[in-house]
Amino acid sequence: MAEENTLKIFKISLPLLPDPCSAAMFMNIIKIKTQAILAIALVSLISIFNLIIINPVLAAETSTGSKIFQANCASCHRGGANILIEQKTLEKTALSKYLENYENDPIKAIISQIQNGKNAMPSFKNKLSDQDILDVAAYVFQKAETGW
Ligand code: HEC
Repeated sequence: MAEENTLKIFKISLPLLPDPCSAAMFMNIIKIKTQAILAIALVSLISIFNLIIINPVLAAETSTGSKIFQANCASCHRGGANILIEQKTLEKTALSKYLENYENDPIKAIISQIQNGKNAMPSFKNKLSDQDILDVAAYVFQKAETGW
C-alpha cells in the first residue's frame, strides 16, 4: 500500500522532473524521508522509556538526599542559600569559586565539606552514615547543576 502510493506520487511527479537522474534522486529522497521518520520514532520511544523507567529511579535516589538535606542542612542552607556567610551558597557559581576542588571532582569536594565541616559549618562525620553523606552530596550536586 505504502509502496503503491510512493509509485503514484512518483508517476505524477515524473513529468515535472527535469532529467533522467532525477528519478533516482526522487527515490533517494523518499528513502531518506523514511529513515528520518524511523529515526524520529526511535528517539520518541527512547524518551518515553526514559520518562517511565529512568526518571523514577533518579527521583527515588534524590528524594532520600532531599530528606537528609531538609533534616540536616536546610537550617543554614534553605533553598541552596547560606544564612551565615551570604556568598557561600550551594549554587554552582559559588561552589566553583569557594569550594576547593569542586571543578575537578564536584561530588568528592561536597562530600569532603560535609565530612569535615569548615569554620562555622559543623562536621557531619559522626552524625550521618557514609551512604547518607553520599546521597545528600549527590542531591546538592544535582540541585547546583539544575538550579535550586
Ligand atoms: C550551622 C550551619 C550549617 C549547617 C547545618 C550546614 N552548613 Fe554547609 N556551610 C555553612 C557555612 C557557614 C559554610 C561556609 C564555610 C566557609 O567556607 O567558611 C558552608 C558551606 C557549605 C558548602 C560549600 C559552599 C560554598 O559556596 O563554599 C557546602 C557544599 C555545604 N556547606 C554543604 C552542606 C550540607 C550538604 C549540609 C548538611 C549535611 C550543610 N552544609 C550543613 C553552614 C552550615
